[in-house]
Amino acid sequence: MSNRGNFSSRLGFILAAAGSAVGLGNIWRFPYLAGQNGGAAFLLIYLICVFMLCFPVMIGEIAIGRKVQSDAYGSYQKLGGGKWGYLGLFGILAGIFILSFYNVVAGWAFGYFLEISFGNLLDEKDFGAFFGSYINNVWTILSFSLGFMVITAVIVSQGIQKGIEAANKIMMPALYLILIGLIIYSLTLPNAMEGVKFYLVPNLSNITLQTLFDGLRQAFFSLSLGMGCLITYGSYVGKNQNIVSSAAIITMADTSVAFLAGLMVFPMVAAINAYDVQGPSLVFVVLAQVFHNMGPMAGRIVGGSFFLLLCFAALTSTISLLEVPAAYLVDQKKLPRKPVVWGLALLIFVLGLPCLVSQGKVEFLSHLFFYKDRDFLTFVSDMCDISLTVGGCLMCIFIRYRWKINNMNEELAIGNPTYLGSMLQKYINITILWVCPILLGILSIGVIIDKFFGLEWIFG
Ligand code: PHE
Repeated sequence: MSNRGNFSSRLGFILAAAGSAVGLGNIWRFPYLAGQNGGAAFLLIYLICVFMLCFPVMIGEIAIGRKVQSDAYGSYQKLGGGKWGYLGLFGILAGIFILSFYNVVAGWAFGYFLEISFGNLLDEKDFGAFFGSYINNVWTILSFSLGFMVITAVIVSQGIQKGIEAANKIMMPALYLILIGLIIYSLTLPNAMEGVKFYLVPNLSNITLQTLFDGLRQAFFSLSLGMGCLITYGSYVGKNQNIVSSAAIITMADTSVAFLAGLMVFPMVAAINAYDVQGPSLVFVVLAQVFHNMGPMAGRIVGGSFFLLLCFAALTSTISLLEVPAAYLVDQKKLPRKPVVWGLALLIFVLGLPCLVSQGKVEFLSHLFFYKDRDFLTFVSDMCDISLTVGGCLMCIFIRYRWKINNMNEELAIGNPTYLGSMLQKYINITILWVCPILLGILSIGVIIDKFFGLEWIFG
């Protein structure tokens, strides 16, 4: 097993896993979902989901991976036998589809980074219209997405220590620095406190079933759970390491970046009173406008930094998304890493093309008749979200009925001698055995109904 590669240190693993977690989900999606779901009310639900449902699932995934030291398929297969390997394959497929649309959005971010840094957006007046037409410049977005995929593949093909770990060690600290700088700037804008209030003071009447569903799927997506990513990264972790505390740090790192991204975005939203800009265009429209208003020089520097931040965040996640299927082919089919990585990158890039043209260019894909007129990118993204919560639920069922909780606890006690018998152990046991499988099962069904039929279907 020694030639699979491994993380050189605990810090290396934590940074890589936090890098996987921190991504477009935190900086692009979290603020717009929070905006659509009443700000602080969403934040509250999100935090509950993270600590009650996500943290235990993360511990379970890392434990499975480290126990077997294999990819997602191999881990379930070896521990569970029978058909359990399919659960791993299901996750690997979900990862492939996530990367296919994720890379398109990363292409938008990469494009914006270059356009703003080179001062190409200086004379724009209407950033809403600009964004709409920009993402329909098929050749432009195609080249930026391709560029992004190539950078991802270059890093992943270098292997665990020299590729994944090294890249995260540079990008993660840089990401935090840029984020803090931007928050400080953002808080000095006119009306900043109004934005902060919208974001931080919960109005409990804003909490609906929709808030709950959105909070849950966002939490799973943001922490990279339910598709074997942390099984794969966990398989490169040494036996002397403390899984529980590492998982706590990764969870905190991801949650803090989502929280801070909101703190950066909402003062900007308030500054130009753009609460009505909703959905995926939020950061591309509102923030671009704010950067524009700063004047040519400052706008280029601050705006360029923001979109660089977005690119770093996306890249540390695309790396992990590509690693999951790559690890499968390397471990199971005994294929050499480099060709596997490049082959997968090409395949997934092509798989993303329908998403790329679904923003208005191709009519049929832009308004799916079977999906309430929504576009194909949204469709793929929603289906992936569903597969993550379902995957998390099945992982708990796997631990409960197949691997057995005592075996998990034994694995967790390696590198953490005081774990057995602790309060934390009791909490994790109850959540994995009862809370997560039941709630994740019910909520996943709820999300499916919500997406395909709308909540009116349940409540009339
Ligand atoms: N967590 C990443 C984000 O927030 C997305 C991701 C999902 C990455 C699943 C890996 C696996 O952007």
